[in-house]
Amino acid sequence: MSLEVIPAILVKDRAELLRRIAAVAPHVRMVHIDVMDNKFVPNKTVGLESFSDLPKNVLYEFHWMVENPEEYISKLPGAHIHLVHLEAVKNWEVVESAVKKAGGKLGIAFNPATSLDSLLPFVKKAERVLAMTVVPGFDGQKYIADVEAKISKLRTLYPKLEIEVDGGIGTQTAFGAVVAGADKLAAASAIFAKEDIKKAIDDILESVKCAGCPSYAECKG
Ligand code: DX5
Ligand code: ZN
Repeated sequence: MSLEVIPAILVKDRAELLRRIAAVAPHVRMVHIDVMDNKFVPNKTVGLESFSDLPKNVLYEFHWMVENPEEYISKLPGAHIHLVHLEAVKNWEVVESAVKKAGGKLGIAFNPATSLDSLLPFVKKAERVLAMTVVPGFDGQKYIADVEAKISKLRTLYPKLEIEVDGGIGTQTAFGAVVAGADKLAAASAIFAKEDIKKAIDDILESVKCAGCPSYAECKG
C-alpha cells in the first residue's frame, strides 16, 4: 500500500480543468476528476466534451457522479480508473464491459449512507474502492468521520485493496482516514484553496506520517 494524495478537480469549464491539472501535475502521480450530471447529484460539472486531449504527464481517475456511467465510460478510451457509484449501477455487466472496452480499470464509490453489506458482494470486481466521506455533490463540505468504521472493516477484510477517501480531507482529517485503513486521499479545497499547492499536498502527507505507527511509544516517524 502506498499512501498518495490525489487532487480532486470539481469544475464547470475546460479552461479551469486544464489550469488545475497544470498546477498539480508536477507534484502528483494522479488527479481525480469529479463529473456530475445534475441528476445523480444536484450539481453539474465539466463532462465528456472537456476530456479530449488531456495532458499526458499525469494519470486520471474519473469520479462518475452520474446516472448511467457506462454511457460516459464507453466514450472515454484510455488507461483511466473509472470510479462508478454503487448507487448508480443498474447492471454490473454493462459497466464492466464498458470499462474493459475503454481500456480502463474499475473502481467502486459508495456514499456515506450506503451499508458495507451492500458493497461487499462487488468489491472483488474493483481495483479500488472510494469511500465518500461527504454526501457527493459539492467540494468544501465537512468530513463525516462515521465512515471510518466502514473503512476499518473493509481494510480488515481486504488487506491489499486500494481504499480511497473523498470529501473533507485535509490536514485535520486525513489522519483518521488513514488510521482506519485508507491509502489514497482525494482532496479539493485543502489543495486548491491554498496559495502554495505543493506545500498543501506535502502538509497532508506530513499529517498522516505517523498514522501507521503502532503507538506513540513506538513511533517510527
Ligand atoms: C464531492 C466530490 C469530491 C470533492 C472533494 O462530491 O466527489 O471529490 O471535490 O472536495 P473537498 O476535498 O473540498 O471536500
Ligand atoms: Zn470526487
